[in-house]
Amino acid sequence: MSTAPCDPFRPVAHLRPPRNWINDPNGLVFHDGHYHVCYQYNPYGTTHANMHWGHFRSPDLLSWEPLPIALSPTPGGEDADGCFSGNAVSDGDRLVAFYSANRWERWHQPVTTATSLDGGRTFTPRGELLVPEPPGGCTMYRDPYVWRHGDGWRMLVGAALADGRGAALLYESPDLDTWTYLGPFDAREQQPVGGTDLHTGEGWECPQYLPASSEGPGALIFSAWNERDEARCVAALIGAEHGDAFEAGPPVLADHGPDCYAPALLRAPGGRWLLWGWSWEAREESWVLADGWSGMLTLPREISVDADGTLRQQPAAELFALRGEHTVHTAGEVHGPEPVELGGVGRAFDLTARLEPSGSAGLRLLTDPDGSEYLDIRVDTATGELVVDRDHSSLDPRAHGGTYRMPCPAGQPVELRVVVDHSVAEVFLTSTGQVLTLRFYPTGDGPWRLQARSAPDARLGYTVDAWALQPLVIKEPSADAP
Ligand code: FRU
Repeated sequence: MSTAPCDPFRPVAHLRPPRNWINDPNGLVFHDGHYHVCYQYNPYGTTHANMHWGHFRSPDLLSWEPLPIALSPTPGGEDADGCFSGNAVSDGDRLVAFYSANRWERWHQPVTTATSLDGGRTFTPRGELLVPEPPGGCTMYRDPYVWRHGDGWRMLVGAALADGRGAALLYESPDLDTWTYLGPFDAREQQPVGGTDLHTGEGWECPQYLPASSEGPGALIFSAWNERDEARCVAALIGAEHGDAFEAGPPVLADHGPDCYAPALLRAPGGRWLLWGWSWEAREESWVLADGWSGMLTLPREISVDADGTLRQQPAAELFALRGEHTVHTAGEVHGPEPVELGGVGRAFDLTARLEPSGSAGLRLLTDPDGSEYLDIRVDTATGELVVDRDHSSLDPRAHGGTYRMPCPAGQPVELRVVVDHSVAEVFLTSTGQVLTLRFYPTGDGPWRLQARSAPDARLGYTVDAWALQPLVIKEPSADAP
């Protein structure tokens, strides 16, 4: 697949097509020996419009083949104004995609399906709607998520209820064709998420469900949507299914960063759960338009729930194979105001760090030679937080700034894994399994460098390793793929 080598922001190890707009990951399923990853795609431009499902598949999460567009709006049909989000299931030879059929004159996006009998190369749309009407009392309704349940199937659909609650609505079916509404699986008035000023939203988009297992409780993950304000986030409820309802504790953040939304789950062979999210742009639209592309998928992440209810994520183990040259391998200490140079890294790297800070201390990624452009990742032992600060990460005022935090237990070494790919950073706190995704747009020329730094009254012991991040192998697309 051709990429523009002069575009310094285009990722090499994160999935996206060469051009145009993408948003949510869709139709994630393992079928016919392949991981199938579809995504909301506008083949005609860099804005959210004309939603199709673009499609990649891979046998190993490393080498990807663009397949023909899976779903396209049918002129005059129920999905004439967009094939919105949903998932897919593998049922013998059939790959069945469930999605939200958009028509602008309808306030809701009812569920419909399309089926592939050739491993995802072509899909035949059902034509008519599968679930034409939402249950009474909804004001928003879309984004089916179907999974195997005993001998039958279950489905969640994201909703906002007229009484102010956001909800995931539960259906069941013996055969994927006839669906019966059972009631809200979970529904909540707006609640703060994980001690932040973010909340669970008026409506829940893209509900995803990881059932409880012998290892631990289950997780209901959804994207908190609000009609007007922008306070969107990804929340997770940790709990278990009792009959037709999910009983769970207070919501927690599934990603602590500003730039991950609408994540979706894939049940991999062997029982592992993988998650991909949509990482949107954090820069002005005029800039996006000039570069001709918008959005990427996050890395595939392994996601699990510990017996104590902790939600954990880490990059899929396969991605260790993307580690190339070992560019930094160093350990030492920094005291007070003089930073220590750790070495050069490329624009795509995978880093592990063990930090033992007293006070405020951490790593700085310098992206220009004179040190005025940088991304800071530091531990604040006073507040017990890992802070990622992008206020100085671009000299271009069209890039968004901001400081983002995730809880980081004090009094013990901090184990980090940071994957940076041109304009995205995914920061994993290995010890707690928490993650923070953000976009940044460095403009500086020359090599990127790492520094260890501590506040004047603090000290930092560090061990840091970094590897160049190799590109994914993207096969030549077939003639009709994007
Ligand atoms: C989430 C979302 C979904 C919808 C899709 C449309 O980002 O708004 O609720 O189905 O995107 O592209």
